[in-house]
Amino acid sequence: MKAKILAALRETDVYVSGQELCEAFGVSRTAVWKAINQLKKEGYEIEAVTNRGYRILSVPDLLSENELNSIRKTEWVGKQIYYFDVLDSTNTKANHLAEKGAEHGTLVVAGRQEAGKGRRGRNWSSPANTGIFMTLILKPELESQNASMLTLVTALAVAKAIKRETDLAAEIKWPNDIVLNGKKICGILTEMSAQIDYVNHIVIGIGINVHNEAFPEELSERATSILLEGGKRVNRAMLIEAVWEEFEKVYGIFMETQDLSKLAEEYEMYLANRGKKVRVLDPKDPFEGVAQGITARGELIVDTWESRKLVYSGEVSVRGIYGYV
Ligand code: BTN
Repeated sequence: MKAKILAALRETDVYVSGQELCEAFGVSRTAVWKAINQLKKEGYEIEAVTNRGYRILSVPDLLSENELNSIRKTEWVGKQIYYFDVLDSTNTKANHLAEKGAEHGTLVVAGRQEAGKGRRGRNWSSPANTGIFMTLILKPELESQNASMLTLVTALAVAKAIKRETDLAAEIKWPNDIVLNGKKICGILTEMSAQIDYVNHIVIGIGINVHNEAFPEELSERATSILLEGGKRVNRAMLIEAVWEEFEKVYGIFMETQDLSKLAEEYEMYLANRGKKVRVLDPKDPFEGVAQGITARGELIVDTWESRKLVYSGEVSVRGIYGYV
């Protein structure tokens, strides 16, 4: 009910009368008044003018099920949203929920994480109110050998959403880091539970550095935030919504062919490594070359002085010759 009133107020920038709200939702004036007061307590600035009604003046950068539901425009992502102020890790929570029967499209969001997980067993720093920490549950009809491409699909969605919401030049460092000015602002961790020939579920975890004002010394060379690069505060809930709107589009295209044949070109437009010298840190056979783009299966195409090589994301990491990208 609170979410519905919030949604109704956010839909317009003119006054909405108490009477309209009562009629639309079949509740009493007192119930509307109570809901408005609760919203004010949560930090929404709502103006109330006699004979005209209510109007929203500002929205706090607040994450809650209400806030996320009130701006949700996606078709299937986030039909069910779970928000927690604190979690160990949204991926861990999403895995448990998926095992217990949570539906395809369920979204888990946390205000902070106490044991945020990064790729290759690293941890992901997740302090309160600075970032976005969220995980989507998928139960797709997908061959398990195609699942790793989902991280590239997700990276494309995040880069597009950040560009759309902030107008900053978000780029992708292959396969799935999002960078601004060569420094990382987002990491994606995809985990799969599968039998040999059947995917039970996949969880896609996304961590975005939004309001961080500084990073620990060991990270500051490589990590940054939207605030540090853009100088502006963005609303996290709006960015979350933008990510999943973009995701639904690219995911739909990916599922048509279960590969990146129809997305590679767009992905390459965001690819920070493209045309740059990279070092491929293959433990058995490290090499250097120039990154050209990706294949329809998401491998990085690298031309060395003697041949063209395809780099598969599971095996190796790639660094720029002169820095992180
Ligand atoms: C990386 O190492 O680049 C991947 C980082 C992924 C971090 C996100 S934050 C939300 C989700 N929950 C986790 O524990 N990890 C992912």
